[in-house]
Amino acid sequence: MKAHSPKSSPVPPEFDSVNRMRVTKILDIKQENCDIKTFTFVDELCGKAEPGQFVMVWIPGVDEIPMSLSGITSEGRTSITVHDVGDASNALHQKKAGDQIGIRGPFGNGFVPVKGNVMVVGGGTGLAPLLPLTERLVKVADKVTVLSGAKCVDNLLFIDRVTNVLSGVDSEIVITTDDGSYGVECVVTDQVELKMEKEKFDMIYTCGPEQMMYGMFVLAEQYKVPLQASLERMMRCAIGLCGSCQIGKLRVCKDGPVLNSEQLRSVKKEFGNFRLDLTGKRVKLQ
Ligand SMILES: Cc1cc2nc3c(=O)[nH]c(=O)nc-3n(C[C@H](O)[C@H](O)[C@H](O)COP(=O)(O)OP(=O)(O)OC[C@H]3O[C@@H](n4cnc5c(N)ncnc54)[C@H](O)[C@@H]3O)c2cc1C
Ligand code: FES
Repeated sequence: MKAHSPKSSPVPPEFDSVNRMRVTKILDIKQENCDIKTFTFVDELCGKAEPGQFVMVWIPGVDEIPMSLSGITSEGRTSITVHDVGDASNALHQKKAGDQIGIRGPFGNGFVPVKGNVMVVGGGTGLAPLLPLTERLVKVADKVTVLSGAKCVDNLLFIDRVTNVLSGVDSEIVITTDDGSYGVECVVTDQVELKMEKEKFDMIYTCGPEQMMYGMFVLAEQYKVPLQASLERMMRCAIGLCGSCQIGKLRVCKDGPVLNSEQLRSVKKEFGNFRLDLTGKRVKLQ
């Protein structure tokens, strides 16, 4: 059989390599809090990723799941930060340094860093893509305000690392917990609104529970500030083919996972409300 020359291939060569599964060894595992661990490995393509892009992580014999990149270095040293919520994430949590996993990606678009006065709002593992974004923003923005929320002190993530990244630049960090066990006792969006009443922001970036991001969308629309939100949906192919990540007319793996205000407006009936389950059935978001 005649081999396809790169010229006749319908698939751009760079896309082909991004979508090809690479098997890599876990170099290091860090316990972040009671049910979140960070896994570090080396992957050359991930070294070229933009903050906000994600990989598909194959756990042999279990499943393949989407994960944002929580650490990106130009030498390819890459991290993912995983919440133990079900079969695949739990199997990943049982892995040891030296074990192998498979990686496809990086996929999707990343956040677009802008100049000016910017706000970063995260909750739970939503902080994962926001950490490399914040590392990028401190180099381009005039001021960076980070608001991080969690149910309680034990669920907070990356506070030391974000504080460290923000040191030495014009910045602010606000921590909230629902039960008041650390920082301000409230939901994070309450503090966001207080900030927006006092200051004019040029861009807001958010990632976290979808109800929180929907709250951010409502506030951003009210105060006329552009928003970039990183969404989660069921993902299988990660290249825009299978439709499992559909929201309105958009496919989160390809058009996102970071959607801007205009895209969010186009899916506002679904956003914060519905998603497709594993069978493709439209179900209410919990
Ligand atoms: C672009 C993207 C980036 C993500 N980044 C991270 C991250 O940085 N850290 C992290 O911990 N999680 C992240 N997730 C969510 C993660 O992929 C799911 O938590 C994971 O797939 C759960 O798989 P499981 O087999 O452990 O759980 P399951 O046993 O399959 O289910 C447990 C719960 O997770 C939900 N879930 C299952 N699969 C998915 C999926 N593919 N997408 C969304 N929800 C799902 C289920 O509805 C259920 O409520 C991301 C998801 C997307 C789409
Ligand atoms: S995961 Fe298949 S289209 Fe998005």
